[in-house]
Amino acid sequence: MYKILKAKDLAENIFLMDVEAPRVARHCEPGQFVIVKMDEKGERIPLTICDYDREKGTITIVVQVVGASTKKMAEYKEGEYFRDFTGPLGRPSEFISEDPETLKNKKILFVAGGLGTAPVYPQVKWLHEHGVDADVIIGAKTKDLVIMEEEMKAVAGNVYVCTDDGSYGHAGMVTSMVEKLVKEEGKHYDVCVAIGPMIMMKFTCLMTKDLGIPTIVSMNPIMVDGTGMCGACRLHVGDEVKFACVDGPEFDGHLVDFDEAMKRQQMYRTEEGRAMLRLQE
Ligand code: FES
Repeated sequence: MYKILKAKDLAENIFLMDVEAPRVARHCEPGQFVIVKMDEKGERIPLTICDYDREKGTITIVVQVVGASTKKMAEYKEGEYFRDFTGPLGRPSEFISEDPETLKNKKILFVAGGLGTAPVYPQVKWLHEHGVDADVIIGAKTKDLVIMEEEMKAVAGNVYVCTDDGSYGHAGMVTSMVEKLVKEEGKHYDVCVAIGPMIMMKFTCLMTKDLGIPTIVSMNPIMVDGTGMCGACRLHVGDEVKFACVDGPEFDGHLVDFDEAMKRQQMYRTEEGRAMLRLQE
């Protein structure tokens, strides 16, 4: 059983939890995820690790209410327990295996869309702890949906906030901020990491391809059971077929077939669609 030590709302339908899971906290790295099962019969929910404290033995998760299970999870309070908290799963972010000295010479731009700010945070924090201060663009629909801005500012080089409706920060999509930084402000980036809704990652990749910036994306949004069994997260990366949960979740964004992945994500939402996908495989 895994105790919830902290539970708080970050925005409407987005909440944060610190969960006591010492073994996961000891071994996890940025980019990895856990699978949470609330009770015996609960659905398996894959969630990216947002932060970890090896000494306290805690893992932070940030969750958006998108269906019945996450709605139920939002009702759990401090002091209550999850039945299972499995992890760390997936491959760590690519930076972890790079020589920190080489990393120091790299200019890195993170593009975080909505809930994607949560999985971006541990990567930026890890880089900061290794002497690299990356720039971060945080995008949200409105001011109220901007999350973790202060936490990010504490570990990033520059943080640029964009809102679709212009209620806070730069008015417009994250892609227009990427373009502005590079074309108007003359910034150079060696690599971009984009994490957020599929459509945001798709258009960020189109923009960075145009600008010649290699880009990594995290395909968490298409995961369902996180075990390599359900097939929901199957996607084409160049000529290869990959599973986001076992081969990723990070991939070369310029090679990902986003249109196929988004179509699959839509179909997977209904039983009829799932049956259709099974027939095609
Ligand atoms: Fe089910 Fe990857 S999430 S196979």
